[in-house]
Amino acid sequence: MPRKRKTSRSSSPRKRKGSTRRSRGALNGARRERRSALITGASSGIGLELARKFAAEGYDLIVTADNGKKLRDAARQIRTEHPDTGITLVVADLAEPDGARALHRQVKAARLNPDVLVNNAGAGVWGDFPKTDLEDELDIIQLNTASVVAITKLFVPAMIKRRSGKILFTASVASLAPTPLLTVYGATKAFVYSFSQALGDELDGTGVTVTALLPGATDTNFFKRAGAEHTQTAQGDLADPERVAHDAYDTLMKGHDHVITPTSERLMAVVSRFMPDRMVAHQNRIE
Ligand SMILES: NC(=O)c1ccc[n+]([C@@H]2O[C@H](COP(=O)([O-])OP(=O)(O)OC[C@H]3O[C@@H](n4cnc5c(N)ncnc54)[C@H](OP(=O)(O)O)[C@@H]3O)[C@@H](O)[C@H]2O)c1
Repeated sequence: MPRKRKTSRSSSPRKRKGSTRRSRGALNGARRERRSALITGASSGIGLELARKFAAEGYDLIVTADNGKKLRDAARQIRTEHPDTGITLVVADLAEPDGARALHRQVKAARLNPDVLVNNAGAGVWGDFPKTDLEDELDIIQLNTASVVAITKLFVPAMIKRRSGKILFTASVASLAPTPLLTVYGATKAFVYSFSQALGDELDGTGVTVTALLPGATDTNFFKRAGAEHTQTAQGDLADPERVAHDAYDTLMKGHDHVITPTSERLMAVVSRFMPDRMVAHQNRIE
């Protein structure tokens, strides 16, 4: 299961609508000149590796996730590795309909304008569709798609106004080939990829570039969290999240529209185009 359900969608006692913490370094005047990257899902896996990469490249960070403790631990790790990095922490639950707005409010309240937006937070629910929990899957749809649209809608106007910005979407190879047993998840990633490519076309000429990251199965908390850690996919050859993040960073900086990583996944993506969709789906069963 992706996370424990809350009894109420609107008033969780364990969390405010969003909370912001900024490291001392971020308040330093000199640092205001530095470029900054807002990364969702930065507390673990691919998002954490992206945050480490951006810090290594001299960016200040706005990192966000749902679990405050995990996020603070991740920020501590980055700060130890890159003491000059200004890091702002925003706790926001992006499976909640108001999560994206709460995130945007907190970032604006801290007077921050990210140069780079990384829409990375995401999760899946594994199992036979008739038996999986509907509420969990509606949360996944909110987290993986609706919040991604909302965050982009809220942050992109400032980038267009500055005529400068970069947006990275963490899609998946599942964007290109359906994933039975992670059925809803695969559909959300198809949405993300389609959205990113259409938006990239719309923003052409504005100074804002859009890049989609399509990782294959990667060694993160994803499978455990989805309840899929026992599957052959999860127990097979998994990509290194650091490598995935570095490929994503390089592609984003070049302004290219997408990257499939690791490279071993690229051939399969090409072959799939020439196969019937149902056959591709069957081959892709996550079991
Ligand atoms: N691992 C793979 O095989 C793979 C392959 C292709 C694409 N992807 C995509 O890569 C992205 C990152 O996943 P990962 O593999 O790095 O898994 P991960 O280690 O589980 O990281 C997921 C991140 O998303 C955050 N997140 C989850 N639910 C959230 C919520 N409700 N609100 C806010 N943040 C939330 C998590 O923070 P909290 O712990 O605080 O919730 C965490 O930082 C996802 O979009 C995933 O779909 C993964």
